[in-house]
Parts: sequence; C-alpha cells; structure tokens
Amino acid sequence: MARRLYEDRDHAAAYLKYRVAPREIVGKIITFMEKKALKKFDLAVDVGCGSGQVTTLLGPHFSQVIGLDVSAAQLEMALTNHKPSNVTYRQCPAEKLPFASGEVDLVTATAAVHWFHHEKFLQEADRVLRPGGCLAILSYNLDMELEYGDVSDKLNDICQEYHAALLSSSDLCNNRNSFYRDMFNSWSYPDKEWKDCMRIKRTVPVSEYISMIETTSSFQKMKKQNPIEAKSLSGGIMNKLLSVIKSSSPDPEVTMVVKYYYWLACKP
Ligand SMILES: C[S@@+](CC[C@H](N)C(=O)[O-])C[C@H]1O[C@@H](n2cnc3c(N)ncnc32)[C@H](O)[C@@H]1O
Repeated sequence: MARRLYEDRDHAAAYLKYRVAPREIVGKIITFMEKKALKKFDLAVDVGCGSGQVTTLLGPHFSQVIGLDVSAAQLEMALTNHKPSNVTYRQCPAEKLPFASGEVDLVTATAAVHWFHHEKFLQEADRVLRPGGCLAILSYNLDMELEYGDVSDKLNDICQEYHAALLSSSDLCNNRNSFYRDMFNSWSYPDKEWKDCMRIKRTVPVSEYISMIETTSSFQKMKKQNPIEAKSLSGGIMNKLLSVIKSSSPDPEVTMVVKYYYWLACKP
C-alpha cells in the first residue's frame, strides 16, 4: 500500500546526506546482467528512487536512467545530487509506469517496494521489461550494527535498544526480509537469485549513524508525534555509545554495517 511519508523537504535533504548508497549491489546487478550475455544496456528505471542514490550509480552503465518517485521533495533533492547527464527524474507512481511494454532493460527498486501496492508494481515491472531484461529488488534491515575495536558487542546492544524503541512507536513491520523473500519465492521467472544478507560497511562519525537512523520512517513518525521524546531518545543513545567508545574525539568514527538483502531476476 503506497503511503506518503517522504514529502518533507528537511527529511529528503537528510535522506540524501545520510543514507548509504549500495554501490556494491549495483556492481552485482551489472554482473548478473552481463552473465546473461545481455548486450543491451539502454534504459534502466529506478522506481521509488527517493533522492537518487541508486539512480545515479546506474548512470555509467546505461544509455539512459530514469528515476521515478511520488514525492516532489525527494525528486527536488535528487536534482541537487551529482547527476550524470543521462539521468533524469519523473514524478510518477510505481503502480503505473510510464513506459511502453518491453521498453526497459532494468527495473530497480530499493527500500521502496514495501511502500508500494507491490502486486500492481510487479505486474507493471513485468510489462515494461523486455525479454532478457532484469528486475532488481533491494532493501535492508533497519537494525544497523556498529563495529569499533573490542566493544562492538556493547555498541550493538545499544543499537538494538534504539531499534526496539523506534519499532515500539511504529506500525512498521519488524521483519521486512520475509516480505521480500516471499515476493522472490512467488516470482515466476525461473532465472532468479536471492541474497539474504550483504553487509555493506561505511566508516562514519557516531553522529552520522544517529542521523541515518533519524531518516527512518519510524523515527520520523515518533518525531512528529512527540519531538521532545524523539530528540531525547537519540541524545541518550548517542551518549551511551560515546561512553562505551571512550574516545578523546567528541565524535569518533565507527564502522556502520547496513544489512542489505536483494533479489535479481531475468525475464524469459
Ligand atoms: C525509503 S525511500 C527509498 C528511496 C531510495 N530508493 C533509496 O534507496 O534511498 C522510499 C521511497 O519510495 C517512494 N514511494 C513510496 N510510495 C511510492 C509509490 N507508490 N510510487 C512511487 N514512489 C513511492 C517514497 O516517496 C520514497 O522516496
């Protein structure tokens, strides 16, 4: 079911700044397509593209890349993002893709299908893909992990506490992974593969981990309902993390791990 949670400008700006762009998975998608001996890399479409992190990563591999999203604020941010000249954006719903049947070589959607009417979107993706074209559906767990010296376990207990507090104030599904896996299992293309967990790591200051979590819809929802509670939750978590890390730097760098999962399928 499509929901409008990404319409706010500040949220869109934070999204662009803090979300982790999964360039490693874009590499896997291109390898998957190359292994199928696909020669045509003309048109890629990134649906629910947000501020365009994945859209721009696709730029070097295709003649043309089009990002689609319902949110004007997200698309406005996407236009401020580094934009190769072959990447463009359109405001449009995932359930009605503005392409002719068989016109598209690759359809991607990252951290977005759970917001769509997914059956209608998948039907549309199948329609617009050409035979031999590929579908790449990605998402990630909301419970990020942190690594730092020999205190990673302690940091992760604190991350879990943050995650649990946000989930308890949210109606979001805790186990998105199984939603995506079920979608994969029921998908009809015989040539398909599922990756259950790809740990994507980035070195970031602790404050950036907090900012990344604050871009999630569960945090945004809490902030709308009770901004003081949301601010104090993040502040408390930040202090706990810093007291475990015991660094002389006010904002030490840690390794943030985002656990992505994805599926790829090639249209017969
Ligand atoms: C969690 S964000 C992911 C953005 C981007 N793909 C990324 O990985 O950073 C989900 C995006 O899906 C968009 N969205 C939600 N429902 C949609 C729909 N029915 N059609 C198109 N976009 C939609 C939202 O506006 C939002 O930008």
